Amino acid sequence: MNRKLKVALIGFGGMGHFHATQYADQKNCKLIAIVDHCPKRFTELSASINLGKSEDMSLKGIKQYATYEDLVANEKPDVLDICLPGHLHAEYAIRAMQDGMDVICEKPMARTVAQADQMLKTAKATGRHFMIAQCLRFSPVYNAFRDIYRKKTYGKLLRIHSMRLSGAAYGSEEPWYRDAKKSGGALLDLHLHDVDFYNYMFGVPAAVSAVGVTRVSGGIDDVLSAFTYPDGFYASAEASWLRAGWFCNAVAIYEKATVTLAGDDIVVAKTNKTCGGATETRKTIKGKNGYWGEIDYFTGCLLTGRKPIQCLPESTRESIRICEALERAIRTGRSVKL
Ligand SMILES: NC(=O)c1ccc[n+]([C@@H]2O[C@H](COP(=O)([O-])OP(=O)(O)OC[C@H]3O[C@@H](n4cnc5c(N)ncnc54)[C@H](O)[C@@H]3O)[C@@H](O)[C@H]2O)c1
Repeated sequence: MNRKLKVALIGFGGMGHFHATQYADQKNCKLIAIVDHCPKRFTELSASINLGKSEDMSLKGIKQYATYEDLVANEKPDVLDICLPGHLHAEYAIRAMQDGMDVICEKPMARTVAQADQMLKTAKATGRHFMIAQCLRFSPVYNAFRDIYRKKTYGKLLRIHSMRLSGAAYGSEEPWYRDAKKSGGALLDLHLHDVDFYNYMFGVPAAVSAVGVTRVSGGIDDVLSAFTYPDGFYASAEASWLRAGWFCNAVAIYEKATVTLAGDDIVVAKTNKTCGGATETRKTIKGKNGYWGEIDYFTGCLLTGRKPIQCLPESTRESIRICEALERAIRTGRSVKL
Protein backbone atom coordinates (compact mmCIF):
# COMPACT_ATOMS: atom_id res chain seq x y z
CA MET A 1 0.00 0.00 0.00
CA ASN A 2 1.14 3.55 -0.75
CA ARG A 3 2.69 5.58 2.03
CA LYS A 4 0.31 8.44 2.82
CA LEU A 5 1.80 11.90 2.37
CA LYS A 6 1.72 14.09 5.47
CA VAL A 7 -0.07 17.38 4.85
CA ALA A 8 -0.09 20.54 6.99
CA LEU A 9 -2.62 23.28 6.29
CA ILE A 10 -2.05 26.98 6.98
CA GLY A 11 -4.95 29.45 7.25
CA PHE A 12 -7.95 27.90 9.01
CA GLY A 13 -10.57 30.49 8.01
CA GLY A 14 -13.44 29.98 5.55
CA MET A 15 -11.53 28.14 2.84
CA GLY A 16 -9.23 26.44 5.35
CA HIS A 17 -12.31 24.68 6.75
CA PHE A 18 -13.51 23.71 3.26
CA HIS A 19 -10.08 22.19 2.51
CA ALA A 20 -9.56 20.56 5.92
CA THR A 21 -12.84 18.63 5.67
CA GLN A 22 -11.72 17.10 2.34
CA TYR A 23 -8.91 15.09 4.01
CA ALA A 24 -11.18 12.68 5.89
CA ASP A 25 -11.29 10.24 2.93
CA GLN A 26 -8.15 10.96 0.90
CA LYS A 27 -6.28 7.81 -0.20
CA ASN A 28 -2.92 9.50 -0.91
CA CYS A 29 -2.49 11.74 2.11
CA LYS A 30 -3.54 12.63 5.62
CA LEU A 31 -3.85 15.97 7.40
CA ILE A 32 -1.46 16.04 10.36
CA ALA A 33 -1.40 19.70 11.42
CA ILE A 34 -3.17 23.04 11.03
CA VAL A 35 -1.62 26.49 11.50
CA ASP A 36 -3.58 29.63 12.23
CA HIS A 37 -2.43 32.65 14.20
CA CYS A 38 -5.91 33.25 15.58
CA PRO A 39 -6.72 30.78 18.44
CA LYS A 40 -10.48 31.35 17.98
CA ARG A 41 -10.38 29.61 14.59
CA PHE A 42 -9.65 26.26 16.31
CA THR A 43 -12.83 26.55 18.38
CA GLU A 44 -15.19 26.60 15.39
CA LEU A 45 -16.37 23.33 13.87
CA SER A 46 -17.38 24.84 10.53
CA ALA A 47 -17.08 28.09 8.61
CA SER A 48 -19.21 30.00 6.09
CA ILE A 49 -18.14 31.63 2.84
CA ASN A 50 -20.22 33.27 0.08
CA LEU A 51 -20.91 29.80 -1.43
CA GLY A 52 -22.32 28.40 1.81
CA LYS A 53 -21.22 26.52 4.92
CA SER A 54 -18.46 23.91 5.20
CA GLU A 55 -19.01 20.47 6.70
CA ASP A 56 -18.18 20.10 10.39
CA MET A 57 -14.47 19.48 11.04
CA SER A 58 -13.10 17.20 13.72
CA LEU A 59 -9.67 18.27 14.98
CA LYS A 60 -9.07 14.91 16.69
CA GLY A 61 -5.48 13.76 16.11
CA ILE A 62 -4.54 16.96 14.25
CA LYS A 63 -1.83 19.15 15.78
CA GLN A 64 -2.53 22.86 16.10
CA TYR A 65 0.10 25.59 15.71
CA ALA A 66 -0.04 29.38 15.86
CA THR A 67 2.76 30.09 13.39
CA TYR A 68 4.51 28.61 10.37
CA GLU A 69 7.76 28.69 12.38
CA ASP A 70 6.18 26.51 15.12
CA LEU A 71 5.06 24.04 12.44
CA VAL A 72 8.50 23.57 10.87
CA ALA A 73 10.16 23.38 14.28
CA ASN A 74 7.91 20.46 15.31
CA GLU A 75 6.75 18.58 12.18
CA LYS A 76 8.11 17.32 8.89
CA PRO A 77 5.14 17.59 6.50
CA ASP A 78 5.56 16.48 2.88
CA VAL A 79 3.01 19.02 1.65
CA LEU A 80 1.81 22.45 2.76
CA ASP A 81 -1.80 23.33 1.84
CA ILE A 82 -2.03 27.15 1.81
CA CYS A 83 -5.42 28.73 2.55
CA LEU A 84 -4.12 32.15 3.60
CA PRO A 85 -5.37 35.50 2.23
CA GLY A 86 -4.27 35.99 -1.40
CA HIS A 87 -1.43 38.47 -0.82
CA LEU A 88 0.36 35.92 1.44
CA HIS A 89 0.33 32.99 -1.04
CA ALA A 90 3.65 33.76 -2.73
CA GLU A 91 5.54 34.39 0.53
CA TYR A 92 4.43 31.14 2.22
CA ALA A 93 4.65 28.99 -0.93
CA ILE A 94 8.25 30.15 -1.42
CA ARG A 95 9.16 29.54 2.23
CA ALA A 96 7.60 26.07 2.21
CA MET A 97 9.39 25.02 -0.99
CA GLN A 98 12.69 26.31 0.44
CA ASP A 99 11.95 24.27 3.59
CA GLY A 100 11.56 21.08 1.51
CA MET A 101 7.77 20.86 1.15
CA ASP A 102 5.63 20.47 -1.96
CA VAL A 103 2.81 23.00 -2.04
CA ILE A 104 -0.86 23.11 -2.96
CA CYS A 105 -2.08 26.70 -2.69
CA GLU A 106 -5.51 28.32 -2.95
CA LYS A 107 -6.25 30.73 -5.79
CA PRO A 108 -5.26 33.37 -6.76
CA MET A 109 -1.76 32.01 -7.40
CA ALA A 110 -0.38 35.37 -6.24
CA ARG A 111 -1.34 39.02 -5.95
CA THR A 112 0.80 39.92 -9.00
CA VAL A 113 2.46 38.22 -11.98
CA ALA A 114 5.84 39.29 -10.55
CA GLN A 115 5.11 37.27 -7.37
CA ALA A 116 3.90 34.30 -9.45
CA ASP A 117 7.21 34.39 -11.31
CA GLN A 118 9.11 34.28 -8.01
CA MET A 119 7.13 31.14 -7.07
CA LEU A 120 8.00 29.49 -10.39
CA LYS A 121 11.66 30.44 -9.95
CA THR A 122 11.72 28.92 -6.45
CA ALA A 123 10.11 25.68 -7.66
CA LYS A 124 12.83 25.37 -10.31
CA ALA A 125 15.64 26.18 -7.88
CA THR A 126 14.42 23.80 -5.14
CA GLY A 127 13.03 21.01 -7.34
CA ARG A 128 9.78 21.11 -5.33
CA HIS A 129 6.33 20.71 -6.91
CA PHE A 130 3.47 23.13 -6.52
CA MET A 131 -0.04 23.47 -7.85
CA ILE A 132 -2.66 26.18 -7.50
CA ALA A 133 -6.02 24.91 -6.28
CA GLN A 134 -8.17 26.27 -9.12
CA CYS A 135 -11.16 24.21 -8.00
CA LEU A 136 -13.19 24.54 -11.23
CA ARG A 137 -10.52 22.57 -13.12
CA PHE A 138 -11.39 19.65 -10.80
CA SER A 139 -15.15 20.13 -10.61
CA PRO A 140 -17.12 17.29 -12.28
CA VAL A 141 -19.81 19.65 -13.64
CA TYR A 142 -17.28 22.13 -15.06
CA ASN A 143 -15.36 19.27 -16.69
CA ALA A 144 -18.59 17.95 -18.23
CA PHE A 145 -19.27 21.49 -19.55
CA ARG A 146 -15.72 21.65 -20.99
CA ASP A 147 -15.97 18.17 -22.57
CA ILE A 148 -18.98 19.29 -24.62
CA TYR A 149 -16.75 21.98 -26.14
CA ARG A 150 -13.78 19.66 -26.66
CA LYS A 151 -15.81 16.88 -28.26
CA LYS A 152 -17.86 19.33 -30.38
CA THR A 153 -20.96 17.44 -29.19
CA TYR A 154 -23.29 20.16 -30.49
CA GLY A 155 -21.08 21.54 -33.24
CA LYS A 156 -19.02 24.70 -33.15
CA LEU A 157 -19.11 27.08 -30.20
CA LEU A 158 -20.59 30.45 -31.19
CA ARG A 159 -20.75 32.32 -27.88
CA ILE A 160 -20.14 31.73 -24.17
CA HIS A 161 -20.96 33.80 -21.09
CA SER A 162 -20.24 33.13 -17.40
CA MET A 163 -21.57 34.90 -14.32
CA ARG A 164 -20.21 34.80 -10.76
CA LEU A 165 -21.86 37.30 -8.48
CA SER A 166 -21.98 37.71 -4.70
CA GLY A 167 -21.67 40.16 -1.86
CA ALA A 168 -18.14 41.11 -0.78
CA ALA A 169 -16.68 39.01 2.02
CA TYR A 170 -14.68 40.52 4.87
CA GLY A 171 -12.28 37.75 5.91
CA SER A 172 -12.35 35.76 9.13
CA GLU A 173 -9.97 37.84 11.21
CA GLU A 174 -9.37 41.02 9.26
CA PRO A 175 -11.26 42.61 6.33
CA TRP A 176 -8.51 41.73 3.83
CA TYR A 177 -11.02 41.07 0.99
CA ARG A 178 -12.00 44.74 1.22
CA ASP A 179 -8.46 45.95 0.60
CA ALA A 180 -7.54 45.52 -3.07
CA LYS A 181 -3.82 45.69 -2.21
CA LYS A 182 -4.37 42.33 -0.48
CA SER A 183 -7.23 40.69 -2.41
CA GLY A 184 -7.02 42.33 -5.84
CA GLY A 185 -10.77 43.14 -5.59
CA ALA A 186 -13.49 41.01 -7.21
CA LEU A 187 -11.48 41.06 -10.46
CA LEU A 188 -8.58 39.01 -9.07
CA ASP A 189 -10.33 37.16 -6.26
CA LEU A 190 -13.64 36.16 -7.93
CA HIS A 191 -13.52 36.84 -11.69
CA LEU A 192 -10.27 34.84 -11.75
CA HIS A 193 -12.31 31.60 -11.46
CA ASP A 194 -13.91 32.18 -14.89
CA VAL A 195 -10.78 33.76 -16.37
CA ASP A 196 -8.84 30.65 -15.35
CA PHE A 197 -11.54 28.28 -16.56
CA TYR A 198 -11.56 29.99 -20.00
CA ASN A 199 -7.76 29.72 -19.97
CA TYR A 200 -8.10 25.98 -19.20
CA MET A 201 -10.78 25.54 -21.88
CA PHE A 202 -9.50 27.79 -24.69
CA GLY A 203 -5.95 28.95 -23.80
CA VAL A 204 -4.78 32.55 -23.44
CA PRO A 205 -6.99 35.00 -25.40
CA ALA A 206 -5.47 37.16 -28.14
CA ALA A 207 -6.93 40.30 -26.53
CA VAL A 208 -9.31 41.40 -23.77
CA SER A 209 -11.52 44.40 -23.14
CA ALA A 210 -13.60 45.18 -20.07
CA VAL A 211 -15.62 47.68 -18.08
CA GLY A 212 -15.69 47.76 -14.30
CA VAL A 213 -16.40 49.79 -11.20
CA THR A 214 -14.64 50.33 -7.89
CA ARG A 215 -16.64 50.14 -4.66
CA VAL A 216 -15.82 48.10 -1.56
CA SER A 217 -12.11 47.25 -2.00
CA GLY A 218 -10.65 50.20 -3.88
CA GLY A 219 -9.96 47.75 -6.73
CA ILE A 220 -12.32 46.51 -9.46
CA ASP A 221 -15.35 45.11 -7.61
CA ASP A 222 -17.73 44.63 -10.53
CA VAL A 223 -16.47 43.63 -13.96
CA LEU A 224 -17.82 42.72 -17.39
CA SER A 225 -15.13 41.28 -19.69
CA ALA A 226 -14.84 40.24 -23.33
CA PHE A 227 -12.19 37.79 -24.56
CA THR A 228 -11.05 37.45 -28.18
CA TYR A 229 -9.87 34.05 -29.44
CA PRO A 230 -8.53 33.13 -32.88
CA ASP A 231 -11.29 30.49 -33.28
CA GLY A 232 -13.81 33.27 -33.85
CA PHE A 233 -16.37 32.57 -31.11
CA TYR A 234 -17.35 35.33 -28.71
CA ALA A 235 -16.57 34.91 -24.99
CA SER A 236 -17.66 37.15 -22.15
CA ALA A 237 -17.87 36.88 -18.37
CA GLU A 238 -18.91 38.97 -15.42
CA ALA A 239 -18.21 39.00 -11.70
CA SER A 240 -19.38 41.18 -8.88
CA TRP A 241 -19.03 41.80 -5.19
CA LEU A 242 -22.02 44.16 -5.31
CA ARG A 243 -24.82 41.60 -5.50
CA ALA A 244 -26.83 40.54 -2.46
CA GLY A 245 -26.42 36.75 -2.32
CA TRP A 246 -24.68 34.20 -4.51
CA PHE A 247 -25.45 33.64 -8.20
CA CYS A 248 -23.37 31.67 -10.66
CA ASN A 249 -23.89 30.05 -14.05
CA ALA A 250 -22.40 29.69 -17.51
CA VAL A 251 -24.14 29.50 -20.89
CA ALA A 252 -22.53 28.23 -24.09
CA ILE A 253 -24.36 28.60 -27.39
CA TYR A 254 -23.36 25.98 -29.97
CA GLU A 255 -24.59 25.49 -33.53
CA LYS A 256 -26.97 22.72 -32.47
CA ALA A 257 -27.83 23.44 -28.81
CA THR A 258 -27.53 25.88 -25.93
CA VAL A 259 -25.76 24.39 -22.90
CA THR A 260 -26.22 25.91 -19.45
CA LEU A 261 -24.21 25.02 -16.36
CA ALA A 262 -26.41 25.61 -13.31
CA GLY A 263 -25.24 24.30 -9.92
CA ASP A 264 -24.37 20.64 -10.49
CA ASP A 265 -26.63 20.43 -13.55
CA ILE A 266 -25.96 20.63 -17.27
CA VAL A 267 -29.06 21.75 -19.16
CA VAL A 268 -29.15 21.20 -22.92
CA ALA A 269 -31.78 23.20 -24.83
CA LYS A 270 -32.62 22.64 -28.48
CA THR A 271 -34.82 24.91 -30.56
CA ASN A 272 -38.30 23.56 -30.94
CA LYS A 273 -38.90 24.38 -34.58
CA THR A 274 -42.69 24.23 -34.44
CA CYS A 275 -43.23 26.89 -31.78
CA GLY A 276 -39.87 28.71 -31.60
CA GLY A 277 -39.41 27.67 -27.97
CA ALA A 278 -36.93 25.10 -26.70
CA THR A 279 -36.93 21.50 -25.54
CA GLU A 280 -34.70 21.01 -22.49
CA THR A 281 -32.94 18.03 -20.96
CA ARG A 282 -31.28 18.32 -17.57
CA LYS A 283 -28.57 16.06 -16.14
CA THR A 284 -27.07 16.26 -12.67
CA ILE A 285 -23.32 15.59 -12.78
CA LYS A 286 -22.37 13.46 -9.82
CA GLY A 287 -18.92 13.13 -8.24
CA LYS A 288 -16.66 14.47 -5.52
CA ASN A 289 -16.38 18.26 -5.36
CA GLY A 290 -13.47 20.21 -6.85
CA TYR A 291 -11.80 20.83 -3.46
CA TRP A 292 -11.57 17.08 -2.85
CA GLY A 293 -10.52 16.49 -6.46
CA GLU A 294 -7.66 18.98 -6.48
CA ILE A 295 -6.09 17.44 -3.35
CA ASP A 296 -6.54 13.89 -4.67
CA TYR A 297 -5.06 14.85 -8.05
CA PHE A 298 -2.01 16.76 -6.73
CA THR A 299 -1.07 14.16 -4.12
CA GLY A 300 -1.58 11.38 -6.71
CA CYS A 301 0.85 13.20 -9.03
CA LEU A 302 3.40 13.53 -6.20
CA LEU A 303 3.22 9.82 -5.36
CA THR A 304 3.51 8.65 -8.98
CA GLY A 305 5.94 11.32 -10.21
CA ARG A 306 3.41 12.59 -12.82
CA LYS A 307 3.38 16.27 -13.85
CA PRO A 308 0.13 17.97 -12.72
CA ILE A 309 -0.79 18.88 -16.31
CA GLN A 310 -4.43 19.56 -15.40
CA CYS A 311 -3.30 22.67 -13.52
CA LEU A 312 0.31 23.60 -14.17
CA PRO A 313 1.58 26.69 -12.32
CA GLU A 314 2.80 28.10 -15.66
CA SER A 315 -0.84 28.06 -16.78
CA THR A 316 -2.34 29.58 -13.60
CA ARG A 317 0.36 32.29 -13.88
CA GLU A 318 -1.18 33.17 -17.26
CA SER A 319 -4.59 33.58 -15.59
CA ILE A 320 -3.07 36.23 -13.28
CA ARG A 321 -1.58 37.91 -16.36
CA ILE A 322 -5.02 37.95 -18.05
CA CYS A 323 -6.54 39.57 -14.92
CA GLU A 324 -3.83 42.24 -14.98
CA ALA A 325 -4.61 42.88 -18.67
CA LEU A 326 -8.34 43.20 -17.81
CA GLU A 327 -7.53 45.77 -15.13
CA ARG A 328 -5.46 47.76 -17.67
CA ALA A 329 -8.34 47.52 -20.17
CA ILE A 330 -10.77 48.93 -17.59
CA ARG A 331 -8.45 51.73 -16.52
CA THR A 332 -7.55 52.81 -20.09
CA GLY A 333 -10.88 52.08 -21.79
CA ARG A 334 -8.96 50.20 -24.52
CA SER A 335 -8.65 46.62 -25.64
CA VAL A 336 -5.38 45.01 -24.42
CA LYS A 337 -3.43 42.46 -26.47
CA LEU A 338 -1.87 39.50 -24.66
N1 LIG B 1 -11.73 28.22 -4.31
C1 LIG B 1 -12.76 28.85 -3.77
O1 LIG B 1 -13.92 28.59 -4.08
C2 LIG B 1 -12.48 29.87 -2.71
C3 LIG B 1 -13.54 30.41 -1.95
C4 LIG B 1 -13.22 31.30 -0.92
C5 LIG B 1 -11.92 31.69 -0.70
N2 LIG B 1 -10.92 31.19 -1.48
C6 LIG B 1 -9.52 31.59 -1.29
O2 LIG B 1 -9.01 31.03 -0.08
C7 LIG B 1 -8.05 31.90 0.51
C8 LIG B 1 -8.44 32.17 1.96
O3 LIG B 1 -9.70 32.83 1.98
P1 LIG B 1 -10.65 32.75 3.26
O4 LIG B 1 -12.00 33.22 2.85
O5 LIG B 1 -10.54 31.43 3.89
O6 LIG B 1 -9.97 33.86 4.20
P2 LIG B 1 -10.18 33.98 5.78
O7 LIG B 1 -9.88 35.38 6.16
O8 LIG B 1 -11.50 33.40 6.15
O9 LIG B 1 -9.08 32.98 6.38
C9 LIG B 1 -7.72 33.28 6.40
C10 LIG B 1 -7.13 32.66 7.69
O10 LIG B 1 -5.72 32.81 7.66
C11 LIG B 1 -5.28 33.14 8.98
N3 LIG B 1 -3.99 33.81 8.83
C12 LIG B 1 -3.73 34.98 8.20
N4 LIG B 1 -2.41 35.24 8.19
C13 LIG B 1 -1.80 34.19 8.83
C14 LIG B 1 -0.46 33.86 9.09
N5 LIG B 1 0.55 34.64 8.70
N6 LIG B 1 -0.20 32.71 9.78
C15 LIG B 1 -1.22 31.90 10.17
N7 LIG B 1 -2.52 32.16 9.92
C16 LIG B 1 -2.81 33.29 9.26
C17 LIG B 1 -6.39 34.01 9.54
O11 LIG B 1 -6.39 34.01 10.95
C18 LIG B 1 -7.64 33.34 8.96
O12 LIG B 1 -8.16 32.36 9.82
C19 LIG B 1 -8.03 33.15 -0.38
O13 LIG B 1 -6.96 33.08 -1.27
C20 LIG B 1 -9.34 33.10 -1.12
O14 LIG B 1 -9.30 33.74 -2.38
C21 LIG B 1 -11.18 30.28 -2.46
